[in-house]
Amino acid sequence: MDPEWLRSCWPWMGSSALGVCGLLRLMEPSKTETSELGRLMLRLVESERLRRWGLSLSAAALVAGLYQMTLMPVRKRTKDYHDHHSKHFKALRGKMFPPGFPNGWHCVCNATDLADGQVKSISALGTYMVAFRGQDGKVGVTHAFCPHMGAHLGMGGVVVGNSLQCPFHGWSFNVAGDCVSVPYRRCNRDMPESSKLHAYEVREHLERIFIWFDAEGRPPQWELTCHEKLEEDLQTGSFYLAAIRQMEFDQHCCEMHMNSADPYHFKTLHAPLPLPLLEKFITADHTATQEYGKGVVNEEPKDEWHMASFEERTHGLFLFGHPRLPVPLSATISESIETNVTFEGPTIVHFRIKTPLGVLRQVKTILPIEPFKQYVEARWYAERSVPRLIACALACIGGRALEQDREVWENKVYHKKPVLVAGDGAFLEFMRWYDQFYSEKSASLCYDW
Ligand code: FES
Ligand SMILES: [Fe+2]
Repeated sequence: MDPEWLRSCWPWMGSSALGVCGLLRLMEPSKTETSELGRLMLRLVESERLRRWGLSLSAAALVAGLYQMTLMPVRKRTKDYHDHHSKHFKALRGKMFPPGFPNGWHCVCNATDLADGQVKSISALGTYMVAFRGQDGKVGVTHAFCPHMGAHLGMGGVVVGNSLQCPFHGWSFNVAGDCVSVPYRRCNRDMPESSKLHAYEVREHLERIFIWFDAEGRPPQWELTCHEKLEEDLQTGSFYLAAIRQMEFDQHCCEMHMNSADPYHFKTLHAPLPLPLLEKFITADHTATQEYGKGVVNEEPKDEWHMASFEERTHGLFLFGHPRLPVPLSATISESIETNVTFEGPTIVHFRIKTPLGVLRQVKTILPIEPFKQYVEARWYAERSVPRLIACALACIGGRALEQDREVWENKVYHKKPVLVAGDGAFLEFMRWYDQFYSEKSASLCYDW
């Protein structure tokens, strides 16, 4: 007998058998029940109406079970063997996509991770790192393994003064990666060059820690500037931090940026309003424009090779996507909202959303944990005039809008020469722009990840 068939029948068989057992029990109730529960059961059992219900239910279950076993057409879908986590799929994507770890500034952790002398272990960008803050307030991000005997400095290492001390034999390293003390060595001068830990250039902005990552080991090729006005506004109190969303995506780090080159997908994936239930019957009409090599820095348009700029407008909401069924007032409200986005390098995105209530800012960072695994943190800031509830609702909508892309992003490949037709977005321009963040050694960094 086909075990699959048996498995599909057991709910009916089980419920029929239970029904019959129940009926038998109902017909022969024990009159000697003494417990409270027993007496309650007895009263229920003696109820004529319950007996009739039991009989009807058992009969229905029996009939359904018999129908399934004898007459129901046998139909079955094939199993789905596509799995984007599979080794083969990752290898295939690895061959098609650009390398997984682009050169640029990357946000590796939050300032809160380094509070109270904590040491943060970071595994990302094809390497293992640790971050710590010395007592002088300076932050260091270095390679994780002690040059002495290879202990992981984040696993038991402690901050002593302005240095990080290895848990194994107590060697200490400053934020520049220099070994500044060996407890059992008489003199700590003239340590060999090989005792130095590789230390990254670090910047701390908006309570977040950024490092400069470069496959060739070059110094920073640009400085982060897009946060400056927001940082000032937070200090004066005219803006506040409203919400933080943390997400993970199994995709390449270029995908979110590549959305900027793809206005048409707003009419497909992003047409449903990204709100629970409403997405079933309300759609939005969007348009988008983009420019590469330009950005908005502290509200001023600037030409910067490492930036890209993107503008999105929503023109109204419609019932069931029908242009003749607009949601009342939605066109007026949508037209009053302007969204400007600046991509600052390959993994940092600044949103500025102007609404009738005030301005919201979102700073989104993408940290490549592996070539096809991204840790995404979106921080939402709002002007004081915007109630936190509204800011949180927008953060929720923003998060759901990303979810609309997830299935495509996590299962797609990358065509270096895509088949493009009139009406497609500026994909080639985007590819050229994103390509600037790779150098000769970029590909070799991803081999084992
Ligand atoms: S392994 Fe770090 S001090 Fe020896
Ligand atoms: Fe999208």
